[in-house]
Amino acid sequence: MDNYQYHIFSPYRVCPLGAHVDHQHGLVTGFAIDKGVDLWFNVRNDSQVNLVSKTFEGEVHFDLTRRSEIRENMWGDYARGAKYARKKRFELTNGIDGVIQGSLPVGGLSSSAAVLIAYVMAFAKANSITLTPFEVVLIASEAEREYIGLNNGLLDQSCIALGKKDGLLFLDCDSNEYRVIKRSPSMPDFEIGIFFSGLTRSLVNSDYNLRVFECKVAAWNMLAYTEQPLKSFDKTFLRDIPKSTFDKTKIAMPARFARRAEHFYSEYRRVRQGVTAWETGNLKLFGKLSFDSCESSMNNYECGSPELIAIYEIMRKQQGVYGGRFSGAGFKGAVIALVDPAYKESIEKALYKEYLEKFPEYENTFKVFWVKPDDGARFIKE
Ligand code: GLA
Repeated sequence: MDNYQYHIFSPYRVCPLGAHVDHQHGLVTGFAIDKGVDLWFNVRNDSQVNLVSKTFEGEVHFDLTRRSEIRENMWGDYARGAKYARKKRFELTNGIDGVIQGSLPVGGLSSSAAVLIAYVMAFAKANSITLTPFEVVLIASEAEREYIGLNNGLLDQSCIALGKKDGLLFLDCDSNEYRVIKRSPSMPDFEIGIFFSGLTRSLVNSDYNLRVFECKVAAWNMLAYTEQPLKSFDKTFLRDIPKSTFDKTKIAMPARFARRAEHFYSEYRRVRQGVTAWETGNLKLFGKLSFDSCESSMNNYECGSPELIAIYEIMRKQQGVYGGRFSGAGFKGAVIALVDPAYKESIEKALYKEYLEKFPEYENTFKVFWVKPDDGARFIKE
């Protein structure tokens, strides 16, 4: 890739604790990891964008000065989405010629947010626009919500843009305040296992958006039962309703909605405890909370597929696994775990054996990867 002047690395992310709550303005944690998306590019003197992918078929060509194109349901939508969100704020005159490549299979590690962030940074560089990392987060998130159509929160983009090698990102999705909590010197060493089920599917087609609405319905129910004014749906979030209101009203609510809210309030508590555990180097407790978080995802949030549940159950009983959960939205893709590096081999062996016994159809697509926390999206060459 020597013929390209610029190179951006935009990492994937994992979230050990604080899942399915960002869209309700909850508390989340996460890491950027040392695998991700590479974008090599040159800046053009005109407004044309030309892209090829080393991961997917086809080429993408569009003009930055034209109106936003409609989605084509292919990888180029992410570049068009980045253009859409950038154009709302800045004039774009210079395009790019680029090559994009992902380093792991797609599913659960937020490759979509990683590519969006890479494009947002590239279009900024090409047009001499300086952005703070949190501005990059907001623009990439707007592209995903408004252009791609996923009603998600800021978890993915924040981990990818703000993550740090030696710490855990802690973000309050209500105030958008964040900090990276450094690893305590007393914390034992760990690596992150990524266990790809072999099942892939786009989030826009999963129940992801439906769950977001179910959370909002739970919030509406609580407001209505306690005679409080309702806000429009887009301004209704579980975070604005105290847990004591939930305790009073849950009995009257359809059980399905009460379970979604139960996940939210219990995850809030787990993240608070998890942050203290992390600060004091208590990886065992942090890991246990991550397991509990996954159980709540299964029982209260009702996501997961038979494949993800099987992987979770196999890995949970292995020696050397501190904790872990479904990655990302949890409808497909991967399960992640924080593990003691001394046990990597035995964990991997058990997973291949037991998972493939149950799901032989994934023999060629089930994969285990070991990664480490890393710094957020950055220029490797500029
Ligand atoms: C996906 C979404 C995120 C978040 C997670 C679940 O990755 O894009 O915003 O909701 O699922 O925690």
